[in-house]
Amino acid sequence: MALLCRSTGLLLKHSKLLPSAFAATRQCSSGGQYQYILVDKKGEKKNVGFIQLNRPKALNALCDGLMLEVGRALDAFEADSEVGAIVVTGSEKAFAAGADIKEMQNRTFQECYGGNFLAHWNRVSTVKKPVIAAVNGFALGGGCEFAMMCDIIYAGEKAQFGQPEILLGTIPGAGGTQRLTRAVGKSLAMEMVLTGDRISAQEAKQSAFELTLAEGSRLEKRLFHATFATEDRKEGMTAFVEKRKAAFQDN
Ligand code: CAA
Repeated sequence: MALLCRSTGLLLKHSKLLPSAFAATRQCSSGGQYQYILVDKKGEKKNVGFIQLNRPKALNALCDGLMLEVGRALDAFEADSEVGAIVVTGSEKAFAAGADIKEMQNRTFQECYGGNFLAHWNRVSTVKKPVIAAVNGFALGGGCEFAMMCDIIYAGEKAQFGQPEILLGTIPGAGGTQRLTRAVGKSLAMEMVLTGDRISAQEAKQSAFELTLAEGSRLEKRLFHATFATEDRKEGMTAFVEKRKAAFQDN
């Protein structure tokens, strides 16, 4: 994953996303094939697959339905010989504010572990064609992880990256602890994961360097599932939904 900072104008120009593009994608998605994303093919040769996350009221929170649709769209672009590369984007305000906390709030450890919760997200990182994340606004938790699964991140001026799971009593569950370390280095990754603090695109770029990805993701997934066996994870997500500060009890 490479991270490139771009001014908002450049970001949009390079990825040819706005504004006529949005009109086209809405038309394309109006057939009802997708509920949570807009999908189109862009460029003169129609060789750029384009996916826009489209749950504006929830800041593009990555509910199961949305991620299943992303998987379907990626499968379709992968199979389409006309498509050479894929762009995934969100809105000016949010690339994605993370996994859907409301959907996760009442999940149990058994459900997460037994169902291998989030395993299907991995499709983003197994696509053979280059996938580019065009990020502006919030890229938090699963949103940051989604962007990091892509091959290149084009980050706009308003992009903010963060892994705030600790504030919910859980940990990143879609590769965050592993890819973030490789993207910004161990020290800053530790700081971000342990405090939940966000960084700007500029800060991310300054810290960016690459290491190798390993077994860590599998271990991370198991630890993420294990947080669903704790009271604090339930309390953290419930507090978010009830719009109050979490009262963690360390259990
Ligand atoms: N899941 C579900 N809903 C979310 C959400 C999420 N991750 N993020 C935002 N929303 C919803 C809010 O509940 C709110 O909905 P209502 O209007 O129905 O209340 C709406 O989106 C707008 O959000 P806010 O009013 O909070 O907007 P804001 O501008 O004041 O704050 C924000 C924006 C800082 C991103 C804040 O919404 C926030 O902190 N969101 C949660 C971020 C987070 O913790 N992400 C990690 C999730 S866990 C995860 O991703 C695990 C993993 O590794 C896969």
